[in-house]
Amino acid sequence: MLFFFTSCAFAALSFLDFAASHPSPSSSGYYSNAGVLQYVNPRIGTFGYSPNGNGGMIPSVSPPFGMTRWTPQTRENYISQCPYHDADTYMHGFQATHQPAIWMGESGQVVLSPGFGGVRPLFEQRGMSFSKSSETSTPYVYEVTLNADSRSSSSGKSIQVAQTATSHVGYLRLDYSKSSEAPYVFIQATRQNWTGQVNVDPEKREISGYNPQRQDYKLGPLHAPNFKGYFVSRFSEPFEGYGIAKGGDLSHGVKSGEGTHLGAYATFKSGMKRVEVRTGVSFVSIDQARKNLDLEIADGTSFETTVDQLKSDWLSILGRITIEGVNQTSAAHDQRTIFYTGLFHALQYPNDYSEPTSNGGGIRTFYSGYTDSVHTAQDTYHQSWSIWDTYRATHSLLTIFAPARVNGMLRSLIRIYEWSGRLPMWANIVETNIMIGTHVDAVFANALKRGFRDFDIAKAWEGVHKNAYIPPEHDTELLYYDREPYTPDEVRAGLTTYMSKGWVANDRWAESGSRTLDYAFDDYAAAVVAQHAGQNDFVDELFARSKNYKHVWNSNTTFMEARNENGTWAGTAQGWTEGDDWVYTFAVMHDVNGLAELFGGRDKLKAKLDEHFNGGHNDQTNEPSHHVPYLYAAIGYPANTQNLTRLIAWENYNATSAGLSGNEDLGQMSAWYVFSALGFYPVNPASDEYIVGSPFFEKVTIRLPAGVANGGNAQKDGERTLVISAPGAPTKPFVKSLKVNGKDITSPMLRHAQIVGASSIEFEMSETPQIWGSDGV
Ligand SMILES: *[C@@H]1O[C@H](CO)[C@@H](O)[C@H](O)[C@H]1NC(C)=O
Ligand SMILES: *[C@@H]1O[C@H](CO)[C@@H](O)[C@H](O)[C@H]1NC(C)=O
Ligand SMILES: *[C@@H]1O[C@H](CO)[C@@H](O)[C@H](O)[C@H]1NC(C)=O
Ligand SMILES: *[C@@H]1O[C@H](CO)[C@@H](O)[C@H](O)[C@H]1NC(C)=O
Ligand SMILES: *[C@@H]1O[C@H](CO)[C@@H](O)[C@H](O)[C@H]1NC(C)=O
Ligand SMILES: *[C@@H]1O[C@H](CO)[C@@H](O)[C@H](O)[C@H]1NC(C)=O
Repeated sequence: MLFFFTSCAFAALSFLDFAASHPSPSSSGYYSNAGVLQYVNPRIGTFGYSPNGNGGMIPSVSPPFGMTRWTPQTRENYISQCPYHDADTYMHGFQATHQPAIWMGESGQVVLSPGFGGVRPLFEQRGMSFSKSSETSTPYVYEVTLNADSRSSSSGKSIQVAQTATSHVGYLRLDYSKSSEAPYVFIQATRQNWTGQVNVDPEKREISGYNPQRQDYKLGPLHAPNFKGYFVSRFSEPFEGYGIAKGGDLSHGVKSGEGTHLGAYATFKSGMKRVEVRTGVSFVSIDQARKNLDLEIADGTSFETTVDQLKSDWLSILGRITIEGVNQTSAAHDQRTIFYTGLFHALQYPNDYSEPTSNGGGIRTFYSGYTDSVHTAQDTYHQSWSIWDTYRATHSLLTIFAPARVNGMLRSLIRIYEWSGRLPMWANIVETNIMIGTHVDAVFANALKRGFRDFDIAKAWEGVHKNAYIPPEHDTELLYYDREPYTPDEVRAGLTTYMSKGWVANDRWAESGSRTLDYAFDDYAAAVVAQHAGQNDFVDELFARSKNYKHVWNSNTTFMEARNENGTWAGTAQGWTEGDDWVYTFAVMHDVNGLAELFGGRDKLKAKLDEHFNGGHNDQTNEPSHHVPYLYAAIGYPANTQNLTRLIAWENYNATSAGLSGNEDLGQMSAWYVFSALGFYPVNPASDEYIVGSPFFEKVTIRLPAGVANGGNAQKDGERTLVISAPGAPTKPFVKSLKVNGKDITSPMLRHAQIVGASSIEFEMSETPQIWGSDGV
């Protein structure tokens, strides 16, 4: 997903200076025993000359699917800007962020900003310089040294900061250089124009408060008026002084306040060496924020203990994978680093926004923006659904690497349906109506095809059926253009003419060509859900509707083309969502043979693909291109897929901070890489099929999680080991033969059950193109 932008301010910068920094062996003890986490570089995707060319990632610490990610703040973030950019040299604080992607808004954040020698609450004034070489970023701890510079009377002094976290609590350790005068921590609750609250409790050494800011409040039908991000920060040291700040004005000795641009602070004895602060975050209440703090990082828990906990949280997933036989190339292109960092990115979303009520207990509590109230349940509650991006490959990835989470995610989707009457499209705190289509249909189809059943399938069908048959409110009055504010749930805008004519009329709705193609795919996904819900009456009808892509095929131009209500062509230049006629001409993931027939045969489609790639039309920086290189293999030209996927990986991914050529989009950019590196990709995510590409590594050993082959039910199957071998792979791109558990596979397709049920997948590789797989699928 990308978006237009208006400024480009970094023309003179170079990212090459900012390659991966791994902790040196001499640094703190907690860097030892990091296993494969040594290959994760959270700074990948934190640099770009424009928002579109930036991965939109941050060097955050948070467990897999954690509610709150803690990040160093080098910028004020907003829609189209993340709180950190690898080119920045001033640090303005450490932020509890809930901004899931660069094109989403921040919600309910809190920022802790340390300093000394006079409290400086304003964003610019509180910035402290730091050198990139003092930064260490890992999935489990972030460290940096901040320097007081010439703007301060403490010139020459410094603060060494270390940050770690649990899902709901950030742990900040501040080591002030000797003889620092009046060390302090300022906490920003709200920015300008947002009214929040702060309280200082010197006896308990606590500062608490809330922030109601939700930057995308104008989008979508719901406004969540009671939404607030609450926090409780508890300090290790007694306060020497305290106060609150409104804008730049400090009120010393004041214990609470309400207002805009609000903050509070605590100061410490001069010469204080170490201050530790744990900050519980909640969307429920201040009391719940305090409970999160007490449950997740109880008093007396050392910083190191929390670091070790977070390290083992990540190792419990990433540590399941061992890679051998990697390209011996530059550090900037270290494919192992790209692979593990990609998984690290993809396993952060959709985040679990539920909060604990007791230690190890099953009952959890969570705020829902849909009901604007607090709920309790013996369940998780997942938010941050960027489904137009993630339906493609991320959800398939989650079924393999985090199967125990999948049913809870699906139940969260159903909760949203029950609350709002619609399944989500792009749900941040509430629906934002960003992007198009109801690809949540495919999220269900994907899971059902992979055996996940621990959710209300009848309800899922109810929501999917509604997507397919009931247009959004005011469908015939609104254009439903991208990011149109204050619209009802957009779902399948233009469904009115899609159902009556077979296409979304371009003269009545925005993005009509893409909508028609996407809705045809969604119909296929809906048919799959109908099959699993026992709704046979709908199966044939929806499969028939899934051929509607043919209505926007212009045989004279050999391109897909949007159409007006009266049936005339709208021209190839319009009607597209973040793509063009080239890319969307291949947007038929569910019926590749049907697409080939439109062209007059597989060889003609192959020629069009050649033109597409040779003409430079493919654009890996955005999602509509992601499946396209795999179409070659599907129609009998596997060598082209094998050649191309490596080139695309090489050109669009690397191990530097500029190493993502497009936005990460909640893991979809990286899910493409991870699957491609393993040697297969889910071209049709509403099916259980993966198209075979070309594995990058000689040997990948995966200790598959329990439950992976039984819909996430860990009681039914234990861990098993899968070895994917491809001797010579780094220099041999072409597949000569393929065996699963010793049995020959002749078509370039693997089914999900075959993969997660296998103990060995053996590729025989070659330097030259082979005939293997040339019958296609
Ligand atoms: C706050 O509101 C004022 C007045 O409407 C406006 O000029 C200013 O830009 C706003 N500030 C922010 C950060 O939105
Ligand atoms: C292709 O062009 C011919 C001649 O102009 C026209 O008769 C025909 O309707 C066109 N076909 C389509 C699909 O537009
Ligand atoms: C069809 O609709 C388009 C767009 O509304 C219009 O420009 C065109 O004149 C119409 N053509 C016919 C034949 O009605
Ligand atoms: C692989 O792709 C590159 C770039 O398009 C091309 O130059 C090369 O000939 C291809 N090689 C094979 C064996 O297809
Ligand atoms: C890393 O990737 C970025 C984004 O694609 C690209 O601009 C840069 O040239 C790449 N750097 C290296 C060293 O490959
Ligand atoms: C390994 O590196 C070479 C360039 O040194 C490149 O041509 C090849 O495609 C790489 N292999 C993979 C799997 O990316």
